[in-house]
Amino acid sequence: MITSALGAAFGLSTFTAATLTYQHRLAISSDTGINVAFNTLGNTTAEATPVVYYGRSRDDLDMYAIGTSSSYATARSTTHKVPLRDLESDTQYHYQTCLDVYGSCLRSPTYSFKTAVSAGDHAEYKFAALGDMGVMGSLGLSSKAPESVEDFSKLDEGERSTMKALIDNQRKYQFILQNGDFAYADDAGKEITSGFIDRIPDEPLLQQMSETYELILEAFFNQTSEFARSVPYMAGVGNHEQLLTRGNMYTDELTNHTIMVDDIPTGQRNFTFYKDKFYMPGDESGGLGNFWWSVDVGPLKLIQLNTESDIKDGVPSPGARRDPALEDYGEPNEQLEWLENELRSVNRGITPWVMISAHRPWYGTWRGCPGCLEAFDELIVKYGVDVVYNSHIHLYERLAPLANGTVDDNELNNPRAPWYIVSGAAGHYDGLDDMPDNIAVESRRLIQGEFGYDEFTIHNRTHLTHAFVASKNDSVLDISTLYKTHEYKHD
Ligand SMILES: *[C@@H]1O[C@H](CO)[C@@H](O)[C@H](O)[C@H]1NC(C)=O
Ligand SMILES: *[C@@H]1O[C@H](CO)[C@@H](O)[C@H](O)[C@H]1NC(C)=O
Ligand SMILES: *[C@@H]1O[C@H](CO)[C@@H](O)[C@H](O)[C@H]1NC(C)=O
Ligand SMILES: *[C@@H]1O[C@H](CO)[C@@H](O)[C@H](O)[C@H]1NC(C)=O
Ligand SMILES: *[C@@H]1O[C@H](CO)[C@@H](O)[C@H](O)[C@H]1NC(C)=O
Ligand SMILES: *[C@@H]1O[C@H](CO)[C@@H](O)[C@H](O)[C@H]1NC(C)=O
Ligand SMILES: *[C@@H]1O[C@H](CO)[C@@H](O)[C@H](O)[C@H]1NC(C)=O
Ligand SMILES: [Fe+2]
Repeated sequence: MITSALGAAFGLSTFTAATLTYQHRLAISSDTGINVAFNTLGNTTAEATPVVYYGRSRDDLDMYAIGTSSSYATARSTTHKVPLRDLESDTQYHYQTCLDVYGSCLRSPTYSFKTAVSAGDHAEYKFAALGDMGVMGSLGLSSKAPESVEDFSKLDEGERSTMKALIDNQRKYQFILQNGDFAYADDAGKEITSGFIDRIPDEPLLQQMSETYELILEAFFNQTSEFARSVPYMAGVGNHEQLLTRGNMYTDELTNHTIMVDDIPTGQRNFTFYKDKFYMPGDESGGLGNFWWSVDVGPLKLIQLNTESDIKDGVPSPGARRDPALEDYGEPNEQLEWLENELRSVNRGITPWVMISAHRPWYGTWRGCPGCLEAFDELIVKYGVDVVYNSHIHLYERLAPLANGTVDDNELNNPRAPWYIVSGAAGHYDGLDDMPDNIAVESRRLIQGEFGYDEFTIHNRTHLTHAFVASKNDSVLDISTLYKTHEYKHD
């Protein structure tokens, strides 16, 4: 029996409590691999082994795999990452997770997933994408925001959130991609000082911020697991995973310390939770952990970029205040060199569609990435990327296809230039943004004040449809189809 074998390997211990696993998050590794991440409450990094039991038959989970565990000082839970490999593509599997502590393994309920469709299979392929989704409910976005928050920044009474829409609609999609800004745990200070969350008497504000930060993360990953345990949840990094750069100062009456309430407490900065929680295919694709990665699935090569550390020549993203001493965001230009290799090696016969996802937009009415255009545009145009998906601005703006700042006259009818979509309207505590009055010339459709997410449908080699979907009622608020002959030569 696997459990006793594992127990023997670790020797004796006093730590014997069986711990229930929760917060499951699946990710595509390849068409024959799934990365399983999950958590257990408390610090269980020592003397225990995470296990996934899995199989084709729900009643006979005849295989198992083990993984590794990690945590950080302020975390409420431990993260476990278990690779499942040598699976069959496009196939349903069932699984249970547990944390093995000397032969005692309390198994989770049985969940199911489907492995990815192999690259080169050009059957219709549908996936969801979204940006800027925070925790829903009493710690984040709800119908009960304080007075100071504008009307379109909260849900109407009974309005369905994007989180719930994704949970309800998950079976429609091959995967769900969140293009940065998870949970908005860094709203903790703002939520406490605005009275949205009760101030704990006699506790220093910074301590309550730090604890609330982790509570928000826990609630968020509890919520996302309701889809992410069954459908791959792919992640890209956003600015809220590092450290905010501006904020309101607040004096803690208890300590007289002046605190920037939009800040992230020390020890929780520098992408700490983002690195810990997710298990993206960075290694598998020659990328860098959860920071940049790619997958080849069905008719699509999807490339996730990072706009939060090195954009080009080691220049960090706007206002980044990450720890320069930490080197695990890559060397200067490492990402750009990887990107060019990825683009150069695409086989359009296998994956005719190439899409790039990156958090901050460098086109549109409200740009948020000085330096990105200079860094990425030339490469993206040179290699004929079809779609660029950006988020960060809390509304929806569909743009024209663009190259070097100029609109492609073909618009969506076989453009040479990549088509840009900016969508960061999934919703969080601070709600949605208002656009400035002067709309960019490349803007084709602007929707403000509606919570929503994006649905991409690749019909075949030549047609891709994008829809912006209202989270509240599944209605399609904007839809358009891109036609590409895909007959360019790119060298
Ligand atoms: C978790 O516990 C182990 C062993 O008890 C300890 O070595 C480790 O530092 C702890 N980790 C954290 C992040 O507190
Ligand atoms: C998250 O889920 C776990 C397991 O169901 C539960 O014990 C915990 O209270 C939840 N946490 C939050 C913040 O909702
Ligand atoms: C904070 O400052 C006020 C006013 O200067 C002073 O009365 C109070 O004792 C200080 N409290 C602490 C904890 O230092
Ligand atoms: C993260 O970044 C900030 C700002 O650069 C730095 O002060 C802090 O020490 C860093 N490390 C951690 C673990 O938070
Ligand atoms: C982009 O446009 C600028 C002028 O706006 C021009 O100087 C530059 O050469 C163009 N770059 C490319 C790669 O076409
Ligand atoms: C591709 O899909 C589009 C949209 O469904 C359809 O109009 C077109 O005829 C299809 N092309 C081929 C070659 O099947
Ligand atoms: C669904 O929501 C959209 C966006 O708010 C609204 O325009 C539309 O009328 C709603 N449709 C139905 C059937 O309620
Ligand atoms: Fe953002």
